[in-house]
Amino acid sequence: MEKPKSEFLSKILKRKNPEEFLQTAKKSNLKKTLGATDLIILGIGAVVGTGVFTLSGLAIAGEAAAGPSFIISLIIAAIACIFSAFCYAEFASLIPVAGSAYTYTFAVFGQFSAWIMGWVLMLEYAIGNIAVALALSSYWFEFMKGFQGILPDIITNKAYWVHHLSIFGYSLEVNILSMIFIAFISFLLYKGMEESKRMAEIMVIIKVGVILLFVIAGAFYVKPENWTPFMPSGMSGIFKGAFLIFFAYIGFDAVSTAAEETKNPQKNMPIAIIGTLLICSLIYIAVAAVLTGLFPFSAIVGNQDFIHAPIAYALNAINQNFLAMLVSMGAIAGLFSVLLVLQLAATRVLFAMSRDNLLPKVFSKIHPKFSTPYVITIATGIFTMIGTLVLDLKGSADLCNIGTFTAFIIVSIGVIILRYTNPNAERAFKIPLMPWIPLAGIACCLFIIYKGIPMDAFIAFAVWIACGVAIYFMYGYKYANLPEEAPVEVLTDEAQEEAALESIAD
Ligand code: ALA
Repeated sequence: MEKPKSEFLSKILKRKNPEEFLQTAKKSNLKKTLGATDLIILGIGAVVGTGVFTLSGLAIAGEAAAGPSFIISLIIAAIACIFSAFCYAEFASLIPVAGSAYTYTFAVFGQFSAWIMGWVLMLEYAIGNIAVALALSSYWFEFMKGFQGILPDIITNKAYWVHHLSIFGYSLEVNILSMIFIAFISFLLYKGMEESKRMAEIMVIIKVGVILLFVIAGAFYVKPENWTPFMPSGMSGIFKGAFLIFFAYIGFDAVSTAAEETKNPQKNMPIAIIGTLLICSLIYIAVAAVLTGLFPFSAIVGNQDFIHAPIAYALNAINQNFLAMLVSMGAIAGLFSVLLVLQLAATRVLFAMSRDNLLPKVFSKIHPKFSTPYVITIATGIFTMIGTLVLDLKGSADLCNIGTFTAFIIVSIGVIILRYTNPNAERAFKIPLMPWIPLAGIACCLFIIYKGIPMDAFIAFAVWIACGVAIYFMYGYKYANLPEEAPVEVLTDEAQEEAALESIAD
């Protein structure tokens, strides 16, 4: 009896050390094209989106009714993220390979925990993207209202694109447009990082540009007396707001999933992760200060127009209608870039899982021409498209938040453990004040969860984890055999040439 039990434990606790990951990564053919600036663009691309363009209205004047104290909500959520960003930065400098938190968990806690982490990351990236795709389609129709009567009805009228079905008494919303957006993004990722990177750059410039325009134009209309009462819903409003707006920061960690495509990742990764978060926090705080300084709280609380599109509403209110239209365009560009980067992150995590035999090997196949993991890119696209049928915006955002909090907590624990179990490994970036920064991050995340997570989201999270455990024992537990078998990736012509040259040089 004793032997099988210990075999079981040794299998599920089997770890990979950072050097093993680096060796595996060397065999892959992902192109190294990204520098620190590219990564920060990727980061802002992933971060600034649904949160600032949509959820800020809900936090200020909707469910949370935080009013001007929303600024404090933003700071609380940012602090939780900054502590976690330090942990991601140290890990990314130590293990700069695709897979992010999944890979880190494998190094510290072993195979089973790594699988669960990968599974949880799908909540953050793939399920999070359902929320983004749905928000994107809403903004699209909002923007198209201005073109009704000018463009053909089929383009501007939502009725053609969103249908309600009832299947076995369960009502489904078929949002064809969100599915098309996801398919388009998946196509870009299929074609490769170069094209996706250029798209992301353009979209980031547009969205940051319109937000800055809003802050500058709006600042002239701010009346400081509107910041009183500062906390109309007390501490509860602040914490509900912090939970909700946590979504706005999600994505900075997605930067670390592109580690294998990064030049000098040990240096560039920490700069990009922390830089992204600091820039986004400053943008959000500036937006919140202007947004809450433009109107008395009593004028916006419960106001559905403000709640759904707060920035556009504010600009219309100060008679900047043209700017309001630009902002809607910026929101569309912004949400597109979030969709792109989160989808990229989802594929890279699944790619790493497949490479470790926790998912079928076919998923880590690299396209012979585009050098992208094309099978997993198509599969993730289809999964996310189907997800838009099952979940709504709030449900997917809640699930995404829980997944991300869980990932942050595990990464923070992992970074402490690895510092003690593997103290001599080369780290280009080391968290100062160990272990206090990760511990503070864990405390912040737990506190925000405790104060804000809705019960139905907890239940959905538990069901998701139970499915993950079942799939692991049906597949990963059986097939994950370490050390690795020969890789099945299709070598590109370029890679074959490089390998040949290397062997000649040897
Ligand atoms: N932070 C991203 C957004 O707000 C997920 O859309």
